[in-house]
Amino acid sequence: MSSERDSVLHSWCVPAQWDAPTVTGGHGAWLELEDGREILDLSSLAECSNLGHQHPRVVAAIRRQAEQLCFVTAAWGAAPRRALAERLLELAGFEGGLVYFTLGGADANENAVRIARLAAGRPAGLVITRDRSYHGASHFAMALSGDVRTQHQVEAAAWGVRHVPPPYSYRCPFGSTTPAECGQQAALAVADCIDTEGRERCAAVLIEPDAGSNGIVAPDGYWPRLRAVTRERGVWLIADEVMSAFGRCGEWFAWQRHGTAGQPDLMTLAKGLTGAMIPLGAVVLSREVAGRIASKPFQAGLTYCGHPLACAAALAALEAYRDERLLERSRALGHELLRELRRLQSHHPVIGEVRGGHGLFVVVELVADRMTRTPLAPWPQQPPALGALLEAALAEGVSFGARGNLLLLAPPLVIEERELAQAVALLDRLLARFFPSASPEQRA
Ligand SMILES: Cc1ncc(COP(=O)(O)O)c(C=O)c1O
Repeated sequence: MSSERDSVLHSWCVPAQWDAPTVTGGHGAWLELEDGREILDLSSLAECSNLGHQHPRVVAAIRRQAEQLCFVTAAWGAAPRRALAERLLELAGFEGGLVYFTLGGADANENAVRIARLAAGRPAGLVITRDRSYHGASHFAMALSGDVRTQHQVEAAAWGVRHVPPPYSYRCPFGSTTPAECGQQAALAVADCIDTEGRERCAAVLIEPDAGSNGIVAPDGYWPRLRAVTRERGVWLIADEVMSAFGRCGEWFAWQRHGTAGQPDLMTLAKGLTGAMIPLGAVVLSREVAGRIASKPFQAGLTYCGHPLACAAALAALEAYRDERLLERSRALGHELLRELRRLQSHHPVIGEVRGGHGLFVVVELVADRMTRTPLAPWPQQPPALGALLEAALAEGVSFGARGNLLLLAPPLVIEERELAQAVALLDRLLARFFPSASPEQRA
């Protein structure tokens, strides 16, 4: 049988080595494969299938909308688009704000910066983002990202982007000894950067508020502090909620864990917005930002922005999150998963840290030596034994997400407790198999 490798150029891989499963269907947290096997999905594919696969309510909404109206240009009105914008503003508590629809997360981030610059009256205003962040793979989004995989493809400074160290408390770049202190230092680094560059030159700070694509989980006080330092300095704060929203971190939007003390000026959405069943992204603007741009020309837009099929899907997805109480479920199962993985940590010395768990997003960091926290492989390389573990897991019917030395556990929020327990039990067995011998340091 021919391989898809022979006709499709896949992303994020060496083309000649592509060898991933082919999916033909799905239900709940399960994926059906071409060879007839079923796989339990512990990563929500790209941390996006929050509602599980083929959620019937979203599928039905797409079908209904397709029968009525598939497409209208973004320049004209469409009923599901207006309804979705109103609902997002309501969920965010952004009364009087506006929503700009995009095709996905990268262009949501690009447009959030464009809007922030317009609102600040600084067309080339500086944007501050973090090292070890990911905001997308289009060119400007790569410049915004602090990602070693893509940073050589763009010159961030030429795009008006400055990077600051992250609140990575397990390996704190500021040498702090507690997560709280690391979070405070990281927020102060943003303040320093604004002060050094000059407030009048800065337009925005773009950062993920909680758990992140590169495995960093913000310490509790970090985001409110960041909110305070940006407000004091008159610089817009943009929350990249592409991954963290829609229950992934236990709330509609991760910043809501901090109440109004965490409310950003803009936020970007994608992934779970439609349960990933159709592409859609969005930028949500606060009343103040919306007011600042109301009388200025906004020269932006792609043909398919705010596509009616996608907006209808998102409306159905939002109803499913609410009616199935998936935010509460994510919080409860996230705590449970964190506890279970910490239990594994107690007898697997290869586990250096387990973090996250505000919702169904838990990061397991593997180390060569727990005492010195020596990484198993230099970031972002994947240690061969972890690659072998992932392969063995797939052969046994479970797909785990991983990045470098990290396992990212982010299953669909509809996963059953017994399915989660089944995956943890498998991980326990495979860690024993692929990381069997504990050095004296690892046992520490
Ligand atoms: C935090 C974050 N921002 C932005 C993006 C980019 O989203 P997209 O792939 O839809 O362009 C991602 C994707 O993984 C993400 O995790």
